[in-house]
Amino acid sequence: LITSVRLRRILDSRGNPTVEADVLTESGGFGRAAAPSGASTGEYEAIELPPNEAISAARKHAVPRLVGEVHAGNQREVDGALRAADGTENFSEIGANSAVAISMAAAKAGADVLGAPLYQHLGGAFRGDNFPVPLGNVVGGGEHAKDATNIQEFLAAPVGAPSVAEAIFANADVHAKAAEILDERGIPAAKGDEGAWAPPVDDAEAFEIMDEAVEAVADDRGFEIKFGLDMAAAELFEDGEYHYGDETKSTEEQIDYVADLVNEYDLAYVEDPLDENDYEGFAELTDRVGDQTLICGDDLFVTNVERLQEGIDTDAANSILIKPNQIGTLTDAFDAIELATEHGYKSVISHRSGETEDTTIAHLAVATDAPFIKTGTVQGERTAKLNELIRIAEDAV
Ligand code: PGA
Ligand code: ZN
Repeated sequence: LITSVRLRRILDSRGNPTVEADVLTESGGFGRAAAPSGASTGEYEAIELPPNEAISAARKHAVPRLVGEVHAGNQREVDGALRAADGTENFSEIGANSAVAISMAAAKAGADVLGAPLYQHLGGAFRGDNFPVPLGNVVGGGEHAKDATNIQEFLAAPVGAPSVAEAIFANADVHAKAAEILDERGIPAAKGDEGAWAPPVDDAEAFEIMDEAVEAVADDRGFEIKFGLDMAAAELFEDGEYHYGDETKSTEEQIDYVADLVNEYDLAYVEDPLDENDYEGFAELTDRVGDQTLICGDDLFVTNVERLQEGIDTDAANSILIKPNQIGTLTDAFDAIELATEHGYKSVISHRSGETEDTTIAHLAVATDAPFIKTGTVQGERTAKLNELIRIAEDAV
């Protein structure tokens, strides 16, 4: 039984306050987790409240329904109590940031009671032993950096890596190689929120740099490395057109552009290639290149089973991004992963641009046999998850 839930404000990687939760149980179980925070958030995400408000609302409405009432090890019960305490569809009462911090902290307390690692508690005895391929953000811009690329993320995808550790080190190599190439070209580069290089180049030059960096590291390491994109196209879309600096593209032009990019660069992955309301455009693109690449919905699906179901019904994509804080609880994230898997959609478990040292998503990816995880390449709040994956692999194989 949960005996205490403590909530506090801590710092995230952008230096903003975020919500951290501690959950204690009667038998001495302890779990601590913190909410991440997006910058290029989807229109249909659950609501993140200012941390102070989220904390006081959760203390008032959620804590009394948890303490002395539910077992930390029963995740559906915990998350059901959070939903009941909130009473809205989108956690606008207690905040998705309070909800997700409590949900994840309870899961960790439940694991602690059992003396099991979190991935084992969440995944259970019938869990597979697959490890996710890490998609590593190497170059980018968009909402994550000023005066850099229009496309938000250029991601290394070490699809041929023999182990998760090799994949993680390969991504770091691609990141270092990209820095070398930028230096050769005399291009100075700051870093964006997630630690990717944010050079003042156009998208075409970023493709060249990425292509060269990935090829060099693949040669060196002797396994296949591809790359992919998060276009975060909802951020480019305004007044019916996609804006790339001074240039614009119609929806048809955007679809042609992305299909051409998939062919030219043999892209492994394209996230949010179209606006978050454009199921039809997504479906057209998936029809054209979906057998060659993953078309992934982030802002399109927002980890929401209803939006995912609409995507399944319209053949809009073949992959979904999973961000627990977009929907508010681990149960909701699990349900989205399960629905996705049932319909052949590949799940990509993801960090946010604002992160903490919390490693829950590494465990979630292993627990659910997710084929991919997107959690950066370098920088402490990103390497926290990557290094946890290396440890889990050692433990679990
Ligand atoms: P966000 O970006 O966390 O700022 O939303 C990540 C993403 O779009 O995948
Ligand atoms: Zn995204």
